[in-house]
Amino acid sequence: MRKKIVAGNWKMNLDYTSGMTLFSEVLNMVNDEVHGNQEVIVCPPFLYIHSLVQLGKNSTRIGIGAQNCHQAESGAYTGEIAANMLKSIGATAVILGHSERRQYFGETNQTLAPKVDAALKAGLRPIFCIGETLEQREQNIHFDLIKAQLTEGIFHLTAADFSKAIIAYEPVWAIGTGVTATSGQAQEVHAFIRKEIAAKYGTETAENTTILYGGSCTPKNAPELFAQADIDGGLIGGASLKSRDFTDIIKAFNS
Ligand code: PGA
Repeated sequence: MRKKIVAGNWKMNLDYTSGMTLFSEVLNMVNDEVHGNQEVIVCPPFLYIHSLVQLGKNSTRIGIGAQNCHQAESGAYTGEIAANMLKSIGATAVILGHSERRQYFGETNQTLAPKVDAALKAGLRPIFCIGETLEQREQNIHFDLIKAQLTEGIFHLTAADFSKAIIAYEPVWAIGTGVTATSGQAQEVHAFIRKEIAAKYGTETAENTTILYGGSCTPKNAPELFAQADIDGGLIGGASLKSRDFTDIIKAFNS
């Protein structure tokens, strides 16, 4: 059975004190209210990872992830952070290929593939993000685009390595816009992604892969999205900055 996961992507938000307060609230709420076996991964800015790991060390349910990493193990890359550094302070996962990284920092499937390798080598689970722009959807090329993102960015992995990865489908037109994909639209793409994984790695690996939906996910729309056959949870941006909303999204599996 594949894991149900809700990941929070704080992006470049919150100062240190607000981040610690938010995480403490989430820890308490999840501890008190979440009774299923869904997993939670909180991805704050790099600077806060160590403190969050310390705060959450007694929680078996909440892991801490990063929002990016460099592909090299070490070296003269001023301002960058290596995957093994993240691992060494207790991170367990890393978001790779978020559309904002692709859009503002020039990341491509080709530059992401070695980051995926670096993450796995360091023992981090990559949360590999894929998804089309509105223009690409309107041109009806979104399935080809998603297939290329998978093929070029992550399908070079062995089946054993791929089984450690999490895929996040995030239609770019739904991120931070308040426009969510309908549950039908999201399910259609998730089923396509699982079919592509099955074609590459076989049905068993495909059935065991967690595929998250991201893009204006809220406590209101999460229950319907998470009820879809191929949607195994969410990658949450804006709503992960509010402890009540984030916890309610985590609980959306219960209902
Ligand atoms: P959003 O962001 O929930 O604010 O739309 C999702 C994401 O970018 O991961």
